Formats: sequence, structure tokens, C-alpha cells
Amino acid sequence: MQLTELVLVNYRNYAEQSLEFGAFNLFVGANAQGKTNLLEAILFLATTRSHRTSTDDELIRQGEQTGYLSGSVEDSIARRRIEVGNTRGRRKQVKLDGKIQNRLSNLIGLLKVVFFAPESTAIVKGGPDDRRRFLDSLISQVHGEYLRGLQRYRRALQQRNESLKQIRDRRASRDTLQAWEEPLIASGIDVARRRRAVCEELRPVLLQQQQYLTEGCEEAGLRYAPNVLINEDDEESREEFERRLTASVESDIARGTTSVGPHRDDVELMVDGLDARRFASQGQQRTLTLALKLAEIDWMHRASGELPIVLLDDVTSELDELRTRLLFEALHALPPQVFLTTTRIDPTLFGEMPAHAWEVRAGTANPVEADAA
Ligand SMILES: Nc1ncnc2c1ncn2[C@@H]1O[C@H](COP(=O)(O)OP(=O)(O)OP(=O)(O)O)[C@@H](O)[C@H]1O
Ligand SMILES: [Mg+2]
Repeated sequence: MQLTELVLVNYRNYAEQSLEFGAFNLFVGANAQGKTNLLEAILFLATTRSHRTSTDDELIRQGEQTGYLSGSVEDSIARRRIEVGNTRGRRKQVKLDGKIQNRLSNLIGLLKVVFFAPESTAIVKGGPDDRRRFLDSLISQVHGEYLRGLQRYRRALQQRNESLKQIRDRRASRDTLQAWEEPLIASGIDVARRRRAVCEELRPVLLQQQQYLTEGCEEAGLRYAPNVLINEDDEESREEFERRLTASVESDIARGTTSVGPHRDDVELMVDGLDARRFASQGQQRTLTLALKLAEIDWMHRASGELPIVLLDDVTSELDELRTRLLFEALHALPPQVFLTTTRIDPTLFGEMPAHAWEVRAGTANPVEADAA
């Protein structure tokens, strides 16, 4: 899968920029010039979200009222055009091949993406919510019905929480809970099952990638740690979920929030049998994150038949020489379309200047001549 073209209008520090991409794309420039902004724009087209902010207004160029992004995506089946328009104080507007999309989720998966940046180590270092987000985003890009199930689950959860608060404040009776528990349980079971299945599929790949990146020295582990034990039996799963909800109903009412369910799941990550969050060194955490990203690429490729595009933000400053070389070799063997930002061109890494390279300065990207390296 390829992003062939990107247009930015009043996006972050870009006034107007149009770019045509190749298989390997390099953005070079000093700090604070707009390199990450380009990757963020691509991520935004792919997922309708930024990795840095949940406030879309921040993406609009200072002093402007509207911003616009468009991208052309090609996969083995079709060529599509994705557009996103942002207006201050309004909901973003998304178009697919010129047609307005009322559901943003229709867009997810059209441009499959794996994003690796220094802050990606939050998957290892951060809280369970960071790991759930990692898993949810990965699965949603490949299985549309998973995303819809997750959305149903979140709605049911929100409504149950609302009921809990009303019961606490004596504005509703306890019977109101039941209406939300049915969809909560049904969608929750789907979500938990898929997460577990994907973790099972990711585990051997992660193990292999960690060994590759550490030249056989480290063993990575991954285990789905569900909050409610769901199995393949519908009746048993249902009963277990119900039992847990009932057992916690008093404290849930007191707190006005649901304490049981897949929104409390975690994914355990291990290095050599120890919890990576607590025991792994900085370098090990970084390597594990990279191994997860490589596992992500592999999983998406196998599950969907398409290679995702790969966004690498400033990785050469974070990874040591060995890891950087191994990363490039691993990508080269596939190879996906790559977008890489860097402050410095390292000749040992690129040899000659790639055909698609831009110098980014103050919100403008200018093509770099091939002999400039
Ligand atoms: N809405 C906006 N309007 C105008 N400029 C913005 C907006 N949002 C961010 N910027 C500017 O974009 C710049 C940061 O861009 P970006 O994060 O892409 O930098 P970078 O080239 O990746 O730098 P680094 O090498 O430090 O990571 C900042 O100077 C910031 O002021
Ligand atoms: Mg940056």
C-alpha cells in the first residue's frame, strides 16, 4: 500500500504544500521546522487522529480559520482520495473520493500505518491505557467490525456509567442498569476475544523480532491480561461477565463508574521473563518498542494482505547504530513504503541521497537534489 500524494493547506506551520512520494521518503531539517508535522498529517489522514493532540483546532495554522489535508492512497485493489477539512470550533469533515463521510470510522484502514517515534516507548513504559490504544489501533486498521464493536462497547459503558451516577444521586432506580448491561456484555465479549487472538498471533513474531534486534540475547514476552476472563464458550463468558458486574455493583454506584470489563484490560510485556515496564532498561524498552512495531507491520501484512506504510520519526537519534541498521535491514527485506524524518543525513545509513528527499525549513519542504548528500 502506498501514499502517492499529500496536500496540506494551513496545516500546523504549513501554508500550502504539495508532495509526491516514492517508496522511500526522507524529510531532513533542523529542529522545529515541520518534519514531524508531515508525519502527523499522514497519520491524521490514516486514523483521523493526531498522536500529539486530541484538539483538532491545534492543527489549523495559527491565524487561520480552516485547514485542509488530502492524500491519495493506492493498494492492490483501488486508488482512493482521502480529504479532511478542519474548521475552528467545528467537527472535522472527512471525504472519501469526494463524498462526505458521516462516520469517521469508515476511513480507518484505508491507509494502514505503523508509526514509530521516540514517544512510542509509552507502549512499554506507560499505563494499561497506552497498551490498549496500541492494540485497538492495530486491530481497528485491519478489522472494521472490531472498531464498530469497540464503539458499541464504549457507548454502552458510557451509558451504564451515566446510570450509575443517577442511581447514586437517587435520580434513577437500579433497574436502569440492566438495559446497558446486555450490549455491554455482548460487545465486551467480542472485543476481549479479538484482543486475545491478536495477542496470541503477535507473541511469536515479537519474540522473533526481539531476538533479531538483540542478536539472540533477549527474549521478549507478550501476554493478554484481561480484566474479565472470556473464553470461547458464549454462555460461560456471559455468566462470568455478569457475575463480575454484579459483584462490583455497589462500589460502581458509589464511584459512578464501571470497574469491570475490557476497558480495564492490559497487555503484559516482558523481557527475559521480567515485566518490561518495571525492570527493563531504557535501551531495552526502546528495543522492545521497536520489536513491537516490526511485529505490528508483520501482523498487519499477514492479516490484511497489505503492507502498511511506515512512519519513522527521528528514530536515528534514539536508536544505537546496530539497532538502526537492523531496523533498516528488516524494512528493506519487506519493503513497505517508508517516511523518515531526521535532523542529519547519515551517509553510512543512506549511501547516496534517496530519490525522494526534502529539506524542511519553516513550514516549507523543498526537494533535495540527488547529488547533495
Ligand atoms: N497550528 C500551528 N500553526 C503554526 N505553527 C505551528 C502550529 N502547530 C505547530 N506549529 C509549529 O510547528 C513547529 C514544530 O514542527 P515539528 O514538530 O514538525 O518540528 P520538527 O521539524 O519535527 O522538529 P524536531 O526536530 O524538533 O522534532 C513549531 O515551531 C511550532 O511552532
Ligand atoms: Mg519532530
